[in-house]
Amino acid sequence: MAGLAVNVDHVATLRNIRGDVSYPDPVTAAVLVELAGADGIVVHLREDRRHIHDRDLRILRKVVQTKLILEMASTDEMVGIALEIQPDLVTLVPERREELTTEGGLDLIVQKNEIAETIGTLQHSGIPVSIFIDPDPDQIKLAHQINATMIEIHTGTFCEATTHKQRNQAFSHIVDAAKLARKLRIGVNAGHGLCYNTIKFFKGLNEIDEFSIGHSIVSRAVLVGMERAVKEMLALIKDL
Ligand code: PXP
Repeated sequence: MAGLAVNVDHVATLRNIRGDVSYPDPVTAAVLVELAGADGIVVHLREDRRHIHDRDLRILRKVVQTKLILEMASTDEMVGIALEIQPDLVTLVPERREELTTEGGLDLIVQKNEIAETIGTLQHSGIPVSIFIDPDPDQIKLAHQINATMIEIHTGTFCEATTHKQRNQAFSHIVDAAKLARKLRIGVNAGHGLCYNTIKFFKGLNEIDEFSIGHSIVSRAVLVGMERAVKEMLALIKDL
């Protein structure tokens, strides 16, 4: 059965909107997420610190009981922080300052050597590394070549599809990607844009180890509470 890692970035977004307040605290949210039964906590420490701050990451490292997953760009600054904090998994993502959220996966055709070096450095210090890529067989083969511990399949194109045809096509790419990665013995996570409806498409796709979901769960938590929001997503994932 697949696991669920919950991204609490947007709890920090809500806090930061008011600048000088300390609530809601993403650390408190992470504790509630864990109490509700999730398998891990995800945070993306961005270069511009627009949501998660260094202080959040440091406290989360001490508090998280399940698994702390750090999403980050492959930069010297972030590698230094990861080596110090020692998250349970690093997910390497592309990052552009002007984007609203992560747009698309890493392009290993262009960045293969740089990403391979970052993977080597992190793995050398005992940190497993996942790389966020589009469901493209060439990217998956390159991920395998550069010894990524896992891949996270970018599900954004599938989630944003506006017609049945687009959606079915995007989903079939995800299925093929997950099966190829599994054949190559790479772990498979999936995420970006998943919600309480789109998750249902994954029924019967047993190749996914864990889903990484943030915005839809935090949004529902604002209305019904974090425990209920996480439990409702967990129930859907258990049913897949
Ligand atoms: N996975 C990755 C690599 C991401 O960058 C994000 C967004 O921070 C997510 C998963 C979660 O996406 P969402 O917030 O849309 O559920």
